[in-house]
Amino acid sequence: MKKAKLIYEGKAKKLYETDDPDRLIIEFKDEAASLDGRKKGVFKDKGIVNNKMSEYIFKYLESYHIPTHFEQTISDREMVVKRLEMIPIEVIVRNIATGSLCTKYGCKEGEDLRYPIIELYLKNDELNDPMMNEYHAAAFGLATPEEMQTIERYATKINALLKSFFIRRKVRLVDFKLEFGRFHGELMLGDEISPDTCRFWDLETGEELDKDRFRKDLGKVEEAYKEMLRRVLKL
Ligand code: TMP
Repeated sequence: MKKAKLIYEGKAKKLYETDDPDRLIIEFKDEAASLDGRKKGVFKDKGIVNNKMSEYIFKYLESYHIPTHFEQTISDREMVVKRLEMIPIEVIVRNIATGSLCTKYGCKEGEDLRYPIIELYLKNDELNDPMMNEYHAAAFGLATPEEMQTIERYATKINALLKSFFIRRKVRLVDFKLEFGRFHGELMLGDEISPDTCRFWDLETGEELDKDRFRKDLGKVEEAYKEMLRRVLKL
């Protein structure tokens, strides 16, 4: 597979076209950003961790019949994926109250939620990703009600699978973000699943093992990412 035109570059990823119109190459970078890009950092081998962890988890989810865009990794930092028509919605799943949930709703930090919460946000930087629901999705023509139902079903199943996957690795899956798209009309999971897009707390110590170490200036960011990859690959 040949790398062709660069079609997107963000802080954490580059996307390339390939000689196959249905395939893209994702290159995972070591850079990180938060606070809408106002805070920046570089963490050695973060891109390698995110590539390898995403590969492992996409394969795991595929084995449980969740369709994903993943095809194969071709280097430490690069994977070939199906070229999806992305649905511009961030799907957040929460098991434990923290982050923007506590800011918005005043719930107690670190509390177990009685049921998982699924939230939807419109992906739009200029509007600061406003919260939305499935009615907005249908009214704005982003996704049909049937697609939104499938997204909700996949998000719930992914949460159930990954919660126990991480418990076996002595990690609590606090919350995470998913993005979906269509491949020749079929809905599938895209983007990445990594410490950039999930919150992971050590089961015993509560230590944060994800991008919050960077967001909150806790230090030991590289160590936390490496430790998470070690645990994911270990079993
Ligand atoms: P939040 O508490 O800031 O809303 O984040 C919830 C989860 O979603 C957390 O695991 C981080 C992840 N997330 C992203 O990956 N990208 C985003 O743009 C946002 C807002 C959250």
